[in-house]
Amino acid sequence: MDNKDQLLEVLSSETIKTRVCELGEQISRDYHGRPLVLVGILNGAFIFVADLVRNIRNPLRIDFVRLASYGSQAESSGRISITKDIELDIKDTDVLVVEDIVDTGYTLKYLKEVLKLHNPASVRICCLIDKKERRKVAVEVDYVGFDIPSGFLVGYGLDFNENYRHLPAVYHLNPVYKPEGFMPSDR
Ligand code: IMP
Ligand code: MG
Repeated sequence: MDNKDQLLEVLSSETIKTRVCELGEQISRDYHGRPLVLVGILNGAFIFVADLVRNIRNPLRIDFVRLASYGSQAESSGRISITKDIELDIKDTDVLVVEDIVDTGYTLKYLKEVLKLHNPASVRICCLIDKKERRKVAVEVDYVGFDIPSGFLVGYGLDFNENYRHLPAVYHLNPVYKPEGFMPSDR
């Protein structure tokens, strides 16, 4: 951790805990006890998934995907590929995709199309943070933890160059070192 980076808390761990609990309740109600497959997106969603699943009362199986997007740290380009695919059979099953942040929307639009090729009963999306003002492509997000329009965020699974994922709260980052293409003021 570069202790010169400035971190400003935007979501406390208590705030996150309360909201994750509400999301779990809402999801449990909406699916009326039906079996679900939850697909978490690695790496960013790993903590959110771990907390969310403990608040879901449906019969639940859990799988993960990992996606690579080509572009700068600041923004995905729309060229996405799967580097770790799902391993469970999702045919005729309700699928809930769990993501950390929806930003341009490229990642989730692509993943939703790929998952639909497996003929699931339904595909819905749950994200911790929605930056919907920054959307480049339309994607329907069914469950949103928090709307945060701007700022580069770290903590609770979210990283900057793989740092800060372990922090229990979500922070706005003002890095001392700014890689090429990184424009905090633009986010
Ligand atoms: P997009 O919706 O395809 O642009 O990509 C969203 C992905 O970009 C998320 O899964 C995050 O991994 C990453 N991302 C977007 N904004 C942030 C941020 O503020 N902090 C950390 N990662 C971010
Ligand atoms: Mg991610």
